[in-house]
Amino acid sequence: MRLARKLVLAVVIGILLVVVAYDYSAVRNDIRDAETRIADDVATRGYGLSVTLSQVVRDSGSEAAEALIARRNQGDRVTIRWVALDVPPTDKRAVDLSPESVNELRQGRPVRIVRGSGRGARLVVYRPFVGQKPVHDLAEASESLDPIQEHQRRRIAGVAVESGVILALAIGAALVLGYRLVGRPVQALAAQARRIGGGDLSQRLELGGHDELSELATEMNIMSERLAGARDRLQAESSAKLKAVEQLRHADRVATVGRLASGVAHELGTPLNVVSGHGSMIAGASEAREEDRESARVIVEQAARMAAIIRQLLDFARRDRARLESGELTSVVDRTVTMLGSLAAQRGVEIRVAPAADVTPVRMDQAQLQQVVANLVLNAIQAMPKGGPVDIELGAVRCTPPKDASGERDCLRLTIADQGTGIAPEDLPHIFEPFFTTKDVGEGTGLGLSVCQGIIEEHGGWIAVDSVVGTGSRFSVYLPAVAERGGESTA
Ligand SMILES: Nc1ncnc2c1ncn2[C@@H]1O[C@H](COP(=O)(O)OP(=O)(O)OP(=O)(O)O)[C@@H](O)[C@H]1O
Ligand SMILES: [Mg+2]
Repeated sequence: MRLARKLVLAVVIGILLVVVAYDYSAVRNDIRDAETRIADDVATRGYGLSVTLSQVVRDSGSEAAEALIARRNQGDRVTIRWVALDVPPTDKRAVDLSPESVNELRQGRPVRIVRGSGRGARLVVYRPFVGQKPVHDLAEASESLDPIQEHQRRRIAGVAVESGVILALAIGAALVLGYRLVGRPVQALAAQARRIGGGDLSQRLELGGHDELSELATEMNIMSERLAGARDRLQAESSAKLKAVEQLRHADRVATVGRLASGVAHELGTPLNVVSGHGSMIAGASEAREEDRESARVIVEQAARMAAIIRQLLDFARRDRARLESGELTSVVDRTVTMLGSLAAQRGVEIRVAPAADVTPVRMDQAQLQQVVANLVLNAIQAMPKGGPVDIELGAVRCTPPKDASGERDCLRLTIADQGTGIAPEDLPHIFEPFFTTKDVGEGTGLGLSVCQGIIEEHGGWIAVDSVVGTGSRFSVYLPAVAERGGESTA
């Protein structure tokens, strides 16, 4: 509002100066006109008197002249007198004049002076009697200046009232217009600038109209949009960078773990074979005591278990590259379910495979995808300690890959759902990391899902999970349909 106030003040002062200057010059002209009229009036009378009086005095004597003056003075604005120079101050015709005026009159020229000031001031004209040498008698004509001064006072009062009214109207109009046209839009612009400064780029400002302020508002809106776009791009770029760094770290970890695992597995393989061999010998030796043979069988069993873990480690570390061939996933699923059937039955789990309607062929390495299905089904079985159903479904769907923006494509989706414990939300981000397990020591190595993810990604697909604690988990594997991938090849 400060800007509006300044504008209002400037406009009002401008208007006031114009009004006062105009009125001042009008009053001055009025007064000059009135003065001129009075001066002319008095001067004319003075001249007429100087002629008439000198004739009357000469022809009829001074009494007749006095009588004429008395008659003329009745009811007239202009008062006339007969005065004289060079008479004693006590004489009734004596007149008080400055030496310059007296000098002028002696030259035969009229003299005009103002007697008194303020109220009661009079304009007086002196004229020597015509034809008198040296000059002695003078005709005096005078008129009061009171009407002029009264007029002047009235005009000044009028000007004051007029200026006051104009001032009030101008202030009112300027305040209303100043606030509407300048104050309000500028306040809105300032608020918008504060919002942008504070990081809120969502608001837009509509001022309406086509003036400079609305243009400024439009420019601010465009600026907000550009800033918001730049900010979004920056955020997207930095989150993409973060993701890339995270993936790199993950890949690095996997590679390190792989090297470590293959080294350890290699070193442990031979001694374990020796332990297992000696155990088998003792277990099969007829001369050994029965308890020793039983202990040796346990040694062989546990050595076999250790060998299985080592094999898994080696699988993880030196998994062969996938040999992709076009094929049907249905047969892989069926084979795996048959293979795990007896284990599931032991744990009270029923594996249900939904009849597949439209199973598009995919390019795959059958052995590796069998490993994927087996790992997922095993996890599902292990998640239901009290038994329950595992539902497997296969179907063609349209899907959008999470990592590239190439849009929708035809896919084959394999879902494996259980009604088990579910996965805690804090564990969900970690389940695909190698060696992440919530299972007891000896129960799980935490490599299953990590291997699955590696295989699926090598097939050009991805894996997703939905899980609710206490309700169950659903793992979905997406593989690109053959039509989109062209002929067979080795990945
Ligand atoms: N169906 C599921 N239900 C509940 N939790 C699961 C399920 N599948 C995986 N998980 C969780 O994810 C973790 C990692 O699974 P992953 O298969 O990689 O390893 P694991 O099963 O623990 O061990 P491994 O498979 O190597 O024997 C599991 O320990 C478990 O906590
Ligand atoms: Mg597992």
